[in-house]
Amino acid sequence: MANSLSINGTDYVEFYVGNAKQAAHFYQSAFGFQPVAYAGLETGLKDRTSYVLRQNKITFVLTAALTPDSPVAEHQRMHGDGVKVIALWVDDARKSHEDTVAKGATSYIEPYDISDEHGEVVLSGIKTYAETVHIFVERKNYNGPFLPGFTEWNPEYKPENTGLMYVDHIVGNVGWGEMDQVAEFYRTVMGFDQLVSFDDKDISTEFTALKSKVMASDNLRIKFPINEPANGLKRSQIEEYLDFYIGAGTQHVAMATDDIVATIKQQRNRGVDFLYVPETYYDTVTERVGEIEENMETLKGLKILIDRDKDGYLLQLFTKPVQDRPTFFFEVIQRKGAKSFGKGNFQALFESIEHEQSLRGTL
Ligand code: FE2
Repeated sequence: MANSLSINGTDYVEFYVGNAKQAAHFYQSAFGFQPVAYAGLETGLKDRTSYVLRQNKITFVLTAALTPDSPVAEHQRMHGDGVKVIALWVDDARKSHEDTVAKGATSYIEPYDISDEHGEVVLSGIKTYAETVHIFVERKNYNGPFLPGFTEWNPEYKPENTGLMYVDHIVGNVGWGEMDQVAEFYRTVMGFDQLVSFDDKDISTEFTALKSKVMASDNLRIKFPINEPANGLKRSQIEEYLDFYIGAGTQHVAMATDDIVATIKQQRNRGVDFLYVPETYYDTVTERVGEIEENMETLKGLKILIDRDKDGYLLQLFTKPVQDRPTFFFEVIQRKGAKSFGKGNFQALFESIEHEQSLRGTL
């Protein structure tokens, strides 16, 4: 029996937000996500509304409450805007549920069928860290735009995409001492392995620190780094997240591009706020990463970060938090052979984050 749950990829990521209509506009205008589907009062929902957006293989669902007693409202009140669902595309949603629950997962949704004129989908779900859940989506007998229950959403306003291709990895922040237990959940329940990478060590600056383990499915289509805070002189960015999210949750979604220069240029022009990168970062970068194909002045102009491991190099950049609370953010990444996650950039990144934490008075 294959140990790893057979997962074809990330199906969608669902955010619970305060105002889905306005969030959808932001994802369209700033990141270039394309409108796909909608559900709400018009489709028979009573307590929530959802907008579905897509860019190549990345699908986001933005959901907001319509009533104060909706579980979406409760989640939003507690956590602010954030990721509720990391949905996984599987061939058999019943078996995925049965197998994971048998291995100790807590059920979130018992398997059920749902259909419309485009065919049938089977859905089921389990809980992962804190209030975050995995939904298993079996869509081999379905050819509609998203899921049954959603109607096509086709507004005239459709800004061009920015070259985002697929979800590279999704990072979870968990509490003090919880990383091993969450990593063990992915090992025993999902059959994931720990990716041995040079990211799996304590990472620290003068003030703050974190520990990280990267768990991955055997086909490497799913990669979940899990962070926990480590002892530092001051409050780490992981602790700041935990304090404002009120517990564990998804820290960032990394989205891959084939041309990070074009992607970042577009997104900067459209108002995406990226993390501040100090000028001094570029003084020593060539020493650290060696020769790269891209023009260093172009990367410096756009403040794109570079890191190298034994397999190659990668280019990446992180947004500032995309909601009011200093919690969830995005990463844009282009891999040029590298299989790791940018540990060499963490130092520069941390100094930058600490600078912004000090502005917020939360360091
Ligand atoms: Fe990342």
